[in-house]
Amino acid sequence: RKTGSPCSGQSGLPNPAFGHEKPHGKPLWLLAELTYKCPLQCPYCSNPLDFAGAGAELTTQQWLDVFAQGREMGAVQLGFSGGEPLVRQDLADLIAGAHELGYYTNLITSGVGLNAAKMAAFKQAGLDHIQISFQASDADVNNMLAGSKKAFEQKLAMAREVKAQGYPMVLNFVTHRHNIDQIDRIIELCVALEADYVELATCQYYGWAYENTEQLLPTQAQLAHAEAVTNDYRERLAAAGNPIKLIFVTPDYYEERPKGCMNGWGQVFLTVTPDGTALPCHSARMLPLEFPNVADSTLKEIWDANPSFNYFRGDDWMQEPCRSCDEKDKDFGGCHCQAYMLTGDMHNADPVCSKSAHHHKIVTARERAETVTNAPDQFVYRNERNSRVFAKG
Ligand code: FES
Repeated sequence: RKTGSPCSGQSGLPNPAFGHEKPHGKPLWLLAELTYKCPLQCPYCSNPLDFAGAGAELTTQQWLDVFAQGREMGAVQLGFSGGEPLVRQDLADLIAGAHELGYYTNLITSGVGLNAAKMAAFKQAGLDHIQISFQASDADVNNMLAGSKKAFEQKLAMAREVKAQGYPMVLNFVTHRHNIDQIDRIIELCVALEADYVELATCQYYGWAYENTEQLLPTQAQLAHAEAVTNDYRERLAAAGNPIKLIFVTPDYYEERPKGCMNGWGQVFLTVTPDGTALPCHSARMLPLEFPNVADSTLKEIWDANPSFNYFRGDDWMQEPCRSCDEKDKDFGGCHCQAYMLTGDMHNADPVCSKSAHHHKIVTARERAETVTNAPDQFVYRNERNSRVFAKG
């Protein structure tokens, strides 16, 4: 079993020469992963497998200091995520602090643990936007994936409350082979809930989702069908004057060129984990790099000069086929975390790229998707008990 640990199968250690400051933008988008605690157990969670071994959570004051430093550096958007951010009892104070600093604030939640009074308190504190995630369009599949018997009804109630309280209604459905054939029912549900924006985001294979790739990756035919249905709904809903926006995100496992992950490493995105580790992407902690903690360094020191934040800036880290590729300014070599997970070397081109010597791993995963039988009992659920296995590993 893969551990996702920085010690597993690494090849190529950081070259200290990469530690000098390199050209970069501002951390416009700050993501505060407030806690790894979560009442659900989604097998596609992008949290690290070994989250149970993380250090103590930052205090309210430490988070507020991070937000203030981020704002000084030009950050404009602040996401509160987790785990489940509602678990933090100081969430309203954190929202109020961020709002006073001038951030556009976004709560990314399962809706479990939310109620009308909390939602009103968050609005009062200045929260701009709540995104509720669903697992499926019906209670059985939703609850099977969430690992909770009551999650679906609670989510529906909270989605209605979001609308009633005048927030923009943003719903997120993570789609995969177990629910993607219900895409029509998912869209119908979103229309019934009067959603403004819907992300129909096909699973990306990081963290727990990577561990469950085989049980999650849809077939090419499933994907093509879902996209066609979505396009059909888009046309019909627009013709009927419904302003709903349906955003369909395909998995990069069905692409031939990689995504420009995070718009480039250390260019616009900065995430801080519950214990204060600063990362240029949500998965970077698995890489054989040392990442700094906001308790030990200022955000500016971290962003501008930390060797790990500088490591993949520019292209002097690149090997072939990226180095001589005329698309390298577009995709930056793709996703370093994906390269590390699939090839054991973070310097390799993302294997999604058809020019990669490891592209066959993606092709094999696609082929496997054609033959796998859906077996939900084979999911490795994201929970403390399972995480402890990885944390010790
Ligand atoms: Fe880490 Fe793509 S998720 S570089």
